[in-house]
Amino acid sequence: MATLADRPINTFDVSQDALYVEDTWREPFARLRAEMPLSYCPDSPFGPYWSAVTHDLVAEVELRHDVFSSRWDMGNITIAEAVNGEGFPNFIAQDQPIHTAQRRVIAPAFSPSQMMKLDKAVKARTKELMDGLPVGETFDWVERVSIPQTLGMLCILFDMPFEEWRDIKRWSDWASGVSADNLNEEYRAQFLAQMGEMLARFDRELEDRRGKPPTDDLLSRMVHSEAMGHMEPMERIANIALLIVGGNDTTRNSMSALVEAFDTYPDQLERLRADPSLIPNAAQEIIRWQSPVTHMRRTALEDTRLAGQTIRKGEKIVMWYISANRDEAVFPDAEKFDVGRANARRHLGFGHGIHRCVGAKLAEDQLATLIGEIVRRNIRVIPQGAPTRLASPFLHGFTAMPVKIAPL
Ligand code: HEM
Repeated sequence: MATLADRPINTFDVSQDALYVEDTWREPFARLRAEMPLSYCPDSPFGPYWSAVTHDLVAEVELRHDVFSSRWDMGNITIAEAVNGEGFPNFIAQDQPIHTAQRRVIAPAFSPSQMMKLDKAVKARTKELMDGLPVGETFDWVERVSIPQTLGMLCILFDMPFEEWRDIKRWSDWASGVSADNLNEEYRAQFLAQMGEMLARFDRELEDRRGKPPTDDLLSRMVHSEAMGHMEPMERIANIALLIVGGNDTTRNSMSALVEAFDTYPDQLERLRADPSLIPNAAQEIIRWQSPVTHMRRTALEDTRLAGQTIRKGEKIVMWYISANRDEAVFPDAEKFDVGRANARRHLGFGHGIHRCVGAKLAEDQLATLIGEIVRRNIRVIPQGAPTRLASPFLHGFTAMPVKIAPL
């Protein structure tokens, strides 16, 4: 029988915030991909965990959802245990059949016909935002573009007034706050207070829709459905939080990453100017290159074998998308942001299998629209100093990015 000593022990813990704040995550993951595609970290602030770091292993764990569970009551879907010990039963943290039933309520909001309607709103919003940006003055791209763009879309999806975006952002930040610094009682108490406030606000919207005929917005879809119409308070909190985090922090960070990518590879912006038909591919490529969701986590439901190792029942395995998306075996010259990359679509930034991101089409549309505006306006977005990076091993992003817009 395998013992701890037989395991491929990972001597550096890739869950440390510092790797992401200091932007030094590339080297440890490159070493792990080369030396230990599946490794075990026996000690971290989040407890022991397995790491899968190559494209094929991450995809394998995703597809073996009968053994590698997402269930909130088995653990959580991030490296941190269910939000500091509190159960968070949303549908991303469920297995079949609950997952399937609840996902079916939300997925039609992103069907091709809905996407045609949403696309009009995305285009109008992006143009308005870009029109309002100062030229030749330093401003924060995260504050003026990435945040209002994604939160505006979220308000449309929920059919709620845009004026409430600051509250929604605050709740979203609390709901997604995975960090070793947050593993304490004080954070947990504040987290629960914020989630309670969020529920009180959203319950008013849900009740309002319950008394009216069904419409296309996400809250109406929930209350008028069998699978999500009568959820307990914590389940309502968790599902609303899922939708606001899913629709917000992720796309937001890809939008900020665009500035960094075009600044590092200015030739790629020139390429898009010469051939705008590459813009949809550039949207895929920025998600691969940035990997706004660093990882997702699963828990083994039974003893099982993976990549020649025995994973014990109850152990957690972290799928590092940020590493799989730099896997040279799949993406040659993986560090390069390449808008013409032939297989950019194979990125795992949206996950894979039954939990693959339900809002992927909307995220791609928002990103392609923003890239299109930068290309069409013949501008350069020039960083003015280093950005501030998010302290989290879960969401890979920026809290501030000073820039100046200059005409070409
Ligand atoms: C699931 C990434 C945008 C809503 C996921 C997963 C990832 C992800 C990695 C988990 C996949 C897995 O476990 O296999 C992203 C990225 C985005 C983005 C990188 C933007 C660039 C959005 C948007 C929405 C959204 C715009 C909608 C408002 C969701 C939901 C799930 C999900 C509801 C749960 C799906 C399930 O469990 O079946 N996303 N997402 N996401 N995402 Fe996104």
